[in-house]
Amino acid sequence: MSNAERVLARMREYMVGPTRFMNLFACFELGIVEALRKESGLTAAELGATVGAKPDAVEQLLYLLVKEGFVAQDEATGRYTLAALADVADADLQRALTFMGMVRTGMLRQLYYLPESVRTGSVVGLKELYGFEGTMFEAAATVAEVRGAWGPLARNETASVYPWFFGSFDVPAGARVLDVQGGNGLGAIMTYQSKGPDLRVTTFDRPFLEAECLRNFEEQGLSEHCSFAGGDILESLPTGYDVMLLKHFVDMYDKDDVRTIFGNAHRALEPGGRIVVLAPVYPEDVADPGDYQADFFPAYILGCVMGRGGLQKASTYRRWLEESGFEVTGVTAKDPADIPADAIINRVVISAVKRG
Ligand SMILES: C[S@@+](CC[C@H](N)C(=O)[O-])C[C@H]1O[C@@H](n2cnc3c(N)ncnc32)[C@H](O)[C@@H]1O
Repeated sequence: MSNAERVLARMREYMVGPTRFMNLFACFELGIVEALRKESGLTAAELGATVGAKPDAVEQLLYLLVKEGFVAQDEATGRYTLAALADVADADLQRALTFMGMVRTGMLRQLYYLPESVRTGSVVGLKELYGFEGTMFEAAATVAEVRGAWGPLARNETASVYPWFFGSFDVPAGARVLDVQGGNGLGAIMTYQSKGPDLRVTTFDRPFLEAECLRNFEEQGLSEHCSFAGGDILESLPTGYDVMLLKHFVDMYDKDDVRTIFGNAHRALEPGGRIVVLAPVYPEDVADPGDYQADFFPAYILGCVMGRGGLQKASTYRRWLEESGFEVTGVTAKDPADIPADAIINRVVISAVKRG
């Protein structure tokens, strides 16, 4: 195959990406897969009657699943059974479907406006679909459909990331910890619960989140150990902390802002103070065929979440931290054995100490 043919053949894979996606997702959404899980060996007519669709249309959708080997069809009787799909554990399937549901509701339509989002540096899809001007995080606070698309995913991510995250760094006894951009306080609560009873943990976020955050601390009986500080991360960070956690957000900013954030953290920390960054990163070899960050994140962050920002390589964050006056003490990635086969996001934890 010539280079030109290889490019064209790859472009064909992109052309059928959206149709493959919706065909498979529709088979789940309509209940076709569920019907086959409950009863093996159903005809298109029986499936159509169960899911409330014309048998001919069900048959059309199932061509792709038969091609994939997800579903099998008996040539003699025309009856369908689950094939390879039957081997996937329910919890695994639900996780993948939650992600696909988010892609459908939170991404497909927004991405139509990706060029406009890039041009304007804003999420044009949110404006076109919901009349909302701002980021996806802000939209989630007021637009039920946006919240509905991201909420279940955030819960899945939290469950899979936090145990690993808190296991990958130490906090000195009695430390004062700042959970930077800590939102509604969940990160502070988990920090306190996983890192020990003698910590003081403060959530730093926009002032409007204070009431919700304090309510969450109170509900957990942690008001004596957890507090809230309001402000703007791009202006300054509060002083008096030994450890700053920067979880799940540096990839939402571009270089100038990340450098400002690292600089603000450096100014606020005492010498010897620590910073712990949790973020998805590009692989050091961008052409790594086993990595999916480039397939997903640029379009997602620019077209659906922020309209700006993006991932970096771990080595780039390391360099920016060092240029900001930190010494990087460790970069930890998840054990590949703990990463499910459908995972897209590859995160690392970068720990650094303030020099001087
Ligand atoms: C992606 S979430 C952060 C995720 C959180 N750290 C975690 O671990 O789940 C973004 C948060 O940043 C806050 N935020 C956005 N811009 C900010 C700014 N300029 N200063 C402080 N907080 C900000 C938002 O209010 C929101 O709670």
